[in-house]
Order: sequence, then structure tokens, then C-alpha cells
Amino acid sequence: MDRTRHLFGLSAQAKAQLIAKLSSGSSTRPAERSPRRSAPEEGGVLTPRLDVSELNGFREIRMIREAAGFLDIADPFFRVHEGIAGAETLIGNKSYVNFSSYNYVGLNGHPHITNAAKAAIDRYGTTVSASRPVSGERPIHRELEQMLARIHGCEDCVALVGGHSTNVTVIGHLLGRNDVIVHDALIHNSIVQGATLSGARRVPFPHLDHQAADRLLGELRSRHGRALLVIEGHYSMDGDVPDLPGFIAAARRHCAWLMVDEAHALGVLGPRGFGTAERAGIDPGEVDIWMGTLSKSLVSCGGYIAGRRDLIDYLKLTAPGFVFSVGMAPAAAAAALAALELLTREPERVRQLNDRAALFLKLARHSGLDVGSSIGASIVPVITGSSIRAGRLAHAMFQRGVNVQPILYPAVPERAARLRFFLTAAHTEKQIRDTVQILTEENRRLEVAPSDLAAVARHLGKLASPPR
Ligand SMILES: Cc1ncc(COP(=O)(O)O)c(C=O)c1O
Repeated sequence: MDRTRHLFGLSAQAKAQLIAKLSSGSSTRPAERSPRRSAPEEGGVLTPRLDVSELNGFREIRMIREAAGFLDIADPFFRVHEGIAGAETLIGNKSYVNFSSYNYVGLNGHPHITNAAKAAIDRYGTTVSASRPVSGERPIHRELEQMLARIHGCEDCVALVGGHSTNVTVIGHLLGRNDVIVHDALIHNSIVQGATLSGARRVPFPHLDHQAADRLLGELRSRHGRALLVIEGHYSMDGDVPDLPGFIAAARRHCAWLMVDEAHALGVLGPRGFGTAERAGIDPGEVDIWMGTLSKSLVSCGGYIAGRRDLIDYLKLTAPGFVFSVGMAPAAAAAALAALELLTREPERVRQLNDRAALFLKLARHSGLDVGSSIGASIVPVITGSSIRAGRLAHAMFQRGVNVQPILYPAVPERAARLRFFLTAAHTEKQIRDTVQILTEENRRLEVAPSDLAAVARHLGKLASPPR
């Protein structure tokens, strides 16, 4: 997918011109610049220094900030939450209804979890002070891994300090230059990064299209050593789900490993929230690599891989991000374990989450909002079709007491810019009804007062070329 097209709804040519104009007033392209000569007191030796403005994306960020400032849109990033971010949150000493946190089953701040984390600190301290193989192993690690393995119906599991880094290190490690990785076009960045690290050939297929994945594997498989097919169980931007049996069949037909990222599926899909296998009613053993994170439903921090015992054993002995990285902090492991206990003990949380999300989806759809292909399990996008419009709508919502994150280019293609609503079991029906009402009103207001893109372009152009 070409993510560089139609920034802010401008044509590719207009965008290119703007970016060129904003390039720090110099007509010299970065690659053409000659190295700076250092000051004589530095000995006159060539000492090239880091010039951030030469890095990819720098000028685009500058342009986006300028455009946002011109349109009076407050920066929606790095907002400081001053307490527990649940269905409500405190920002700037004011309470907002919050749809920007992963807290799907409403567990963040639950006393069972905070007490477990505190007890782990009392017993083991705040760090395990070493990588797991070399004296960083604590009982809480294995307890967590065994419970995750049970929930995923797998033989074993290994937990690492980060979700993103789990994908990077595991994919980067398992695949190599002679291999091929075929993945959904909307797959998470961590998987793309892992694929890049591996050196394998990386080929995306259209979102959710298992027949396209099957065709691609058919074309590519014989020219590569190993093949990995990667999908997400519940897509983080769109809230839609794959046809798992279709992907299993494609993987088996072409002797590819199948990996499913359950970051947004655990606690969300299946009657007990055990994820994609439970939802699809398939034997979890049909999937070679289950990946998940501890930062969403499990209100902690970390990532994991669940699968066959030999795979987990191999990763524990060889995956660089595990072997050469500190073991999970005791409090983080204990919090995730306590969250899993609550998830299994209180399955009604999952039902409540799905009910709330379905209500949001239904009301938003009835109001004519574009909710894409979301199934309404916990993530509902409201697609605005331009970053400016998403930014303005999120700003308007914030003014009216609702905190929702806009997802802007380049995180998604410009025409797919959106507000992304994370629903949780803790949201009340009233909060959801009120929010959709406000959203509908503010969206209509924007329809009658669209942004003047030509004025934005003129403003940016003026900034880039000051009067002579
Ligand atoms: C699909 C997917 N995989 C992996 C990750 C990385 O997880 P973490 O944020 O826990 O590092 C995310 C994060 O949002 C994600 O959405």
C-alpha cells in the first residue's frame, strides 16, 4: 500500500512541492550536501554531526505540525494522564470519558492486580537484575508462562519484556535471507520490523484475503527455504478479524509456518476471551506460533510466544531479545498473572466488553458514521478520510469531554485517517450513547465547515519561502 499518497488530501504533486519547500530553506538535497568542516579549534578534521533535519520524515512531521497549528488543532499526542486511565481519565486536572486506553476488560487499577504487583516487589524487588538464563529466573515467570500456555491451549510459552520487541526478535531470529514472509497488508509495525531484521523476502497480501495469501505462497514458496504466514487475530486499527480456517489451509497447503498475533484478541475474542482459536473453535495446535502482549487486556507490560515445547525451548536458548535482555520485572509478571486469574474467574467481563463495543458500533453505524469493517468486539474506528478532519474531530471531542485518539497519516494511509475508539467493559451504556451523540453532532459540524486545504497549502508555502 502506498502510504505516501494524498497527505491531508493534497495531490501527490502538491504534497511533494510542499515538502520540498519546507526543506529548511536550502535547495540542496540532503544526499548532495558535502560534509561540514569542523571549527579550527576542533583541529580542522572532518566531523560529520547528526543533522536530524536530514532524516526521513522530519520535514513531513514539521509540515503536519504547521498545518495543525494553522487550523488551531491542539496536539493530541503525549497528553499526560494524571491517574489510572480507565473508562474515565484525568487530563489537566479535568475528567474525560476515555476511549484511548487498551484496558479492554477494565482491569487497570484492580486491587487484586495492584496487590499482586506490590507483593512481587516486596518479595523479589523491582528488577530481576539479569537475563533469565543467567540468574534472572524467578518463580513468577514460569507461573505466568504456564498460565498463558494453558489459555492458548499450547504446550509451553515464553514471556519477554516487550510486545513490540517480541515480534522483532522472534521473527528476526526464526527467519533468514533465503526465506519468505507473507503477511496481511495492515499487519502491525513490529512484525514488519522483525521481517526486515530477518533479511527474508517480505510480501504483503490485501487485508484479510486468505485466497491472495494462498496464491502468493503458491508463487513464492518453491523459491525459498522457509515460509512464514503472519496475521493478527483482531486487527488493531480496524477491529476486524481473519478467517482463521482459511489461513490455516493456506499455510498447510504450502508448508508455511502460521503465526497469529493475539495482542488485541486476548481478553476480547471467544466466550472466555481466550482469543482467536476459541472464537473460531479450532484446535490451537493448528497454529505454529501464537504471539501476544501483556499490555492490553492484561494491564501490564511484555510480550509472549506460545506454541509447541520444542519451539519455546529453542527460543529460550537462542532468541537474542530473550537471551541477551533482562527478564521481565517481577511486578509486571505478577500483574499479568493476576489479570489472567481475574479473566478466567470473571468471564462476564468479556461479555460486557463485547456488548458495550457492539452497542457503540450499532449506534455509530445508525448515525451514518463510517466504522469500516469492525466487528464491534472492542475496537471501532470512525474513518474520516483525511488527517486534518480526524485531527479536528478529535479536538472537538476533547473540547466536549471525550478523549479519543486520532490516527493520522503515516500511521494509516491518508484516506484511511480516523478516530480509533477502544471500548472497555468499564464503559457505561450512557457514556457510549452520549459519546456517539456528540460524535455525530461534531462530525456534522465539520461537514458544513470543511477545511480549506488551499489555505493550508498557501500557509505552508509562505512559511517555506519568506518574502524577499
Ligand atoms: C498487533 C500488535 N502487536 C504487537 C504490539 C506491540 O505490543 P506492546 O505495545 O505491548 O509492545 C501491538 C501494540 O499495540 C499490536 O497492536
